[in-house]
Amino acid sequence: MNAEGFTKSLNLLSLFRLKNREYLIISIMKNFKRYLITSALPYANGPIHIGHLAGVYVPSDIYTRYLRMNGVDVISVCGSDEHGVPITLKARKEGVSPQVIVDRYHTINKKAFEDFGIAFDIYSRTSNKVHYDTASEFFRTLYDKGEFIEKSSDQYYDEEAGCFLADRYIMGTCPHCGNENAYGDQCEKCGTSLSPNELINPHSTVSGSKPVLRETLHWYLPLDKYEPWLKKWILEEHKEWKTNVYGQCKSWLDQGLQPRAVSRDLDWGVPVPVEGIEGKVLYVWFDAPIGYISATKELTPDWEKYWKDKETRMVHFIGKDNIVFHCIIFPAMLNAEGSYILPENVPANEFLNLENDKISTSRNWAVWLHEYLEDFPGKQDVLRYALCANAPETKDNDFTWKDFQARNNNELVAILGNFINRTLVLTNNYYSGRVPERGTTDTNDDTVLKEIGRLKENVGASLEAFRFREALKEAMNLARLGNKYLADAEPWKVIKTDPERVKTIMNIALQITANLTIVCEPFLPFSMEKLRGWLNYNELKWSKAGESDLLLPGHVINKPELLFEKIEDEEITRQVDKLLATKKANEASDAKTVAGKESITFDDFTKVDIRTATILEAEKVPKTTKLLKLKIDTGLDIRTIVSGIAEYYEPEAIIGRQISIIANLEPRKIKGIESQGMILMAEDKDGKLVMVTPSANVSNGSMIK
Ligand code: 2FM
Ligand code: ZN
Repeated sequence: MNAEGFTKSLNLLSLFRLKNREYLIISIMKNFKRYLITSALPYANGPIHIGHLAGVYVPSDIYTRYLRMNGVDVISVCGSDEHGVPITLKARKEGVSPQVIVDRYHTINKKAFEDFGIAFDIYSRTSNKVHYDTASEFFRTLYDKGEFIEKSSDQYYDEEAGCFLADRYIMGTCPHCGNENAYGDQCEKCGTSLSPNELINPHSTVSGSKPVLRETLHWYLPLDKYEPWLKKWILEEHKEWKTNVYGQCKSWLDQGLQPRAVSRDLDWGVPVPVEGIEGKVLYVWFDAPIGYISATKELTPDWEKYWKDKETRMVHFIGKDNIVFHCIIFPAMLNAEGSYILPENVPANEFLNLENDKISTSRNWAVWLHEYLEDFPGKQDVLRYALCANAPETKDNDFTWKDFQARNNNELVAILGNFINRTLVLTNNYYSGRVPERGTTDTNDDTVLKEIGRLKENVGASLEAFRFREALKEAMNLARLGNKYLADAEPWKVIKTDPERVKTIMNIALQITANLTIVCEPFLPFSMEKLRGWLNYNELKWSKAGESDLLLPGHVINKPELLFEKIEDEEITRQVDKLLATKKANEASDAKTVAGKESITFDDFTKVDIRTATILEAEKVPKTTKLLKLKIDTGLDIRTIVSGIAEYYEPEAIIGRQISIIANLEPRKIKGIESQGMILMAEDKDGKLVMVTPSANVSNGSMIK
C-alpha cells in the first residue's frame, strides 16, 4: 500500500474505532503524505531508565516501526536536551563544566537507545550549532514581530556569587509542611509547587548566603493572547486526543493562561539574541522543543517539508509532565511564528513507578538501561515487551520484577517461544526444513487462516489509536491462535496415521509463524530478526501480514534456537535485593541530610537541662489520637508530661521505660493538662517518632551532656 492508501485506511480505521464520535472526526480527518515523529528530548544529566522507555520511547519506536513497515514517509527525531538548571546544578556539584556533563550523558543515552533498538533517524543534541542558530532565529522572528512582552521584575540575586538564582538554586523552609530543604519551585516532601518568595529563610545553594531581590528584564510569551485560539484548536478540534492529555489541557485552559517568561538569567543555554543583552539565555522549555526542528534540519536538507507542509502529520511522544509544553506552549510558539505545522496528536503517557515507589534519578530508584543489559544481556526484547504490556497508558503503573519474570516466563516463553519452537522443530524433523504443501483444508483450518487477517487488522487499528498494550495483546493472540491450532490438530500424533494431513497442519503453522515475524516486529525487533533468519524470510511489509502463503512449499528454513529463555527466581531475587540495598542507602543518607541548624554557644547548650527519667504511668488523653499523658520520675520530682506519641506507643507498653527529657522547659497547657517538660524523641524520615533511651540503665535525673 502506498502512503496515500495507508493514510486513507488509517482514517477509516480511526472512524471505526471511534464510532460514537465519528461525525466529529470526519470533519477534522485529513490525508497526510508523511509523518514526523518526535520523542521528548531527555535531559542529558543522567542515564535513561525504564520509566523513560515505557512512557515515551518504546511507544514511539513501535509506532514508527509500524509506519515504516507501511511504506509511509516517516522520520523519527530525538536528541539530548542539554540546557536547564538540573544540568548546571550537577556540573556545579561535580566541579566540572556543564559541557562535560552533557557530553557524558549524551554518549551514554545515545548508546542506550541504540542498544534497545529505539530506531530514531537522528539522535541530536541541543548544544550543537544548528540548534543554537535555529533557536536564536526562532526567538528573533518572534521578537521582530513584536510577539513578546518585555518586563522587569524582582528576582532573587546571590550577591556573594554575583548571579541571579533560578528557583532550583534557592532553598528554604516549606511554609506548608516545615521541610527545611524545600526548593524555590517545589517542596519534595509535601509535593507543593512553590515560588521562591514563599520560602521561609531562603538561602542560595550556590554560596549559602541569603539572597536579595533585584530587578531584572525578561521576555514573556503572552499565552493569554493565544488562549481563544488554543481553546478552539484543542478543545474543539482535537477531542480525539487521549483523555489524560485532553483533560490536562482543558484544565490549564479553564484556569486561564498567563504570559510566560521565555528567558532566564543564566550563563548556560542559548544566549538571548538581542543587541546589548548579556548573561541571559533562552528558557530551556523555549529552546528544547525547537530541538525537534534543529534535529530535522541536521537530518535532511529537505527538513521544511516535514515542518511546513500541511500534509505532514506530526506526533509528539512525551510523558505526562511535558503535556503543557507540547500542547499549549510550543503550539503557541509555532502559531506566533506562523510558518510551521502543529502536532496532530500528543499521545502522552502517565508515569511508571518501580516496586511501588516513584522512579527517581537522584535517589537511584530506577532500573537503568545499561545496568539491565549487564544483568540480562541480549534480553532487550523482554524489557520492551514487559514495559509495553504494562505501559502507563491511562494511569500510573507499577513495574515489578515479579511481573517482569511472569511476562517472560508465562507469555514470551510459554506462548510465543513455545509455538515458534514447536513449529520449526517439527518442520525440521518431518521435512528436513522444507515447507510442506498445504493440501485440502477443513473448516477449522479455514477459520484459523481467516483469523490471521483479523488479528493483523486489530493490531494495526490499536496502534493507530495509540493503544499499544491492546496492540501487543492482539499480536500475542496470533501466537495463542497458533498454539491452540497445534494443540487441537496434534500433528505429533496424526503423523503416525495420516502424514498427508500433517503437511497441511504444518503449512498453516508455518504461515502463522511467518505472519508473526511481521506483526511482532514493531514490539520485538531483536527476536523477530532472529526468527526471520531461521525462517529465511525477510519480508517486512505490513501489508503482507494476513496472507496465508508467505512461505511457499519447498521453501527451506533453518534450524531454530530458543527464542526466549526462562528467567529463574534467583535472577529476580538479585534485582529485588539490589533495590532493597538502594532503599537502605537512601534511608541512611536521609537521616544524615536533615539540614544542620545554626551554631549555638556552649553557654546556650548548658541552659538546657536534659536528664534521664522513668515513665511511671501512661494513659491516652481523651478525645485525642496523638497525645499520651505520662507521669514520670525525673529524679528531682514526679511530674506530668503530655507527649504526642500515642500513634507510636501503647500506654501499657512504655511503663517502666527509661527516657530522656528536657526538664526546664516552661510548663504549658495541652488539652487542659499542664505539661511540665518534654520527652526527647528521634524522628525518622517517615515522621515516625522513637524514644531516646540511655543505652544502659542509669539513675533517674542523670544529666545528659
Ligand atoms: O522532561 C524532560 O525530560 C525534557 N527534557 C523534555 C523536553 S522535550 C522537548 F521539548 F524537547
Ligand atoms: Zn512542604
